[in-house]
This record gives sequence, structure tokens and C-alpha cells, in this order.
Amino acid sequence: MAKDVIIACDFDSKAKTIEFLDKFSDVKPFVKIGMELYYAEGPEIVREIKRRGHKIFLDLKLHDIPNTVKKSMSVLSKLDIDMCNLHASGTINMMKAAIEGLTRQDGTRPLLIAVTQLTSTDEESMHKDLLIDKPLNEVVLHYAKNAQISGLDGVVCSPLEAGIVHETCGKAFLTVTPGVRFADGEIADQKRVTTPERARELTSDYIVVGRPITAATDPVAAYKRCRKEFLGE
Ligand code: C5P
Repeated sequence: MAKDVIIACDFDSKAKTIEFLDKFSDVKPFVKIGMELYYAEGPEIVREIKRRGHKIFLDLKLHDIPNTVKKSMSVLSKLDIDMCNLHASGTINMMKAAIEGLTRQDGTRPLLIAVTQLTSTDEESMHKDLLIDKPLNEVVLHYAKNAQISGLDGVVCSPLEAGIVHETCGKAFLTVTPGVRFADGEIADQKRVTTPERARELTSDYIVVGRPITAATDPVAAYKRCRKEFLGE
């Protein structure tokens, strides 16, 4: 299975995104389009980045009643994306509806993965704010099992949880892991973080890296450093 580094293009305009992507002349990184950019530019930014030859993870984290999610996924299925996601906390019914909506008439669909607990959430805030008393690992694992039962392809989780997810759900069940920082970098608002090298040891399939690359003085060098540490290139 392909492992890769996905760059979180958290920009607020097409102009800034294209200026950033133009720096990558010899490689076409797998790109994540999140809410910020999608809400600013709409579906056209997805088409534009696809035309430029990038794989796309559309990170809109859907979470609503099953019927709304199903219909929204059906709309997203018309975009030529490679991966998209939703919140596992929306329940199994919602996730099953999402798969139905996302599957095109010819039976194909983009990969669908579920957010377990955001990597900015730690155990304390999960207990205090969300009133979920269980240990964080247990919650992540339970949500991963629900996602698998629903027919999803994997989960978004911290690299720290990738191992237990694979042990329980199998190696083919994808772990897409944000919360990645260089050993000498800043953590910012992320809580459950690791380095790209450690993410590899912990069996992450895809690492999602935003600010350590987008805010770097030399983003291409930072991207290459990520690939070297995570993929051993
Ligand atoms: O800049 P940074 O590397 O923290 O970016 C991480 C990206 O991954 C952001 O776009 C964030 O929305 C996303 N993400 C996350 N934690 C999750 C799911 C998505 O940080 N559980």
C-alpha cells in the first residue's frame, strides 16, 4: 500500500495556494484541501489543483444527519478527489449513509476516512469538555472499529494511535495522521504530536503536514525532509 506525505494547504485564497504549489517544480505532492481554502474558493479550487496533477484529500470533516451527509457526499463524488472524510462521532448510520452517497453509479468512489478524535484534543479536554470518560486510546479504537463496520477505508488519528488501530482493524485499514512536527520545530495548537520518523516507526500510512512545510522558509526542502524521514527516501 502506498505511503505518502500529504501537505495541508491551509491557505485562504487560490492565489496563495497556487503561489505555494508553484514552488514545487519537479514533484507533485499529495495535497490536502481543508475548510479554509474550500470555503474561500469553492469546488473550482479542487478542479484547478487536480488539473495541475496533484492527488487531493478533501478534508471537510462532514458531521450531520445521515440524509444530509449522504446527499453532500453524492455532490462531492462528482469532484475528482482521491480521499475525503467525516467525523466518526456522527455514528455508524451516518457513516454508512456517507458511503452510499459517495459511491458513483459505476461503483467507484474516493477513499473515505473517519476522524476519530482531533489531534488538538487531549484526554483532559475530552473528559472535561465532551464528557467522554474513557481513555483516549479506547475512544479512538472504538471509533475506528465503527468506521470499519460502516465500510470506510481508514481513520484520521494521531501517529501515536496508528499501531493500535492497525492491530485491531488490520494493516490494510488506513491511518492518516496529522500532528506531525520536526524534532526541532514548533508544536502550535497540536497536542498529540510526533516526528515524521517516529510516525513511520508507529506505522502511519499517510502523514498530513501543514505548518512545518507551509510556514517553512524553504517549503520544498521541508517537504523533502519529511519524505526522507517518513519514507526513508
Ligand atoms: O499545520 P498542521 O501540521 O498542524 O496541520 C494539520 C492539518 O491537519 C490541519 O489542516 C488540520 O485541520 C488537520 N487535522 C488535524 N487533526 C485531525 C484532523 C485533521 O490536525 N484530527
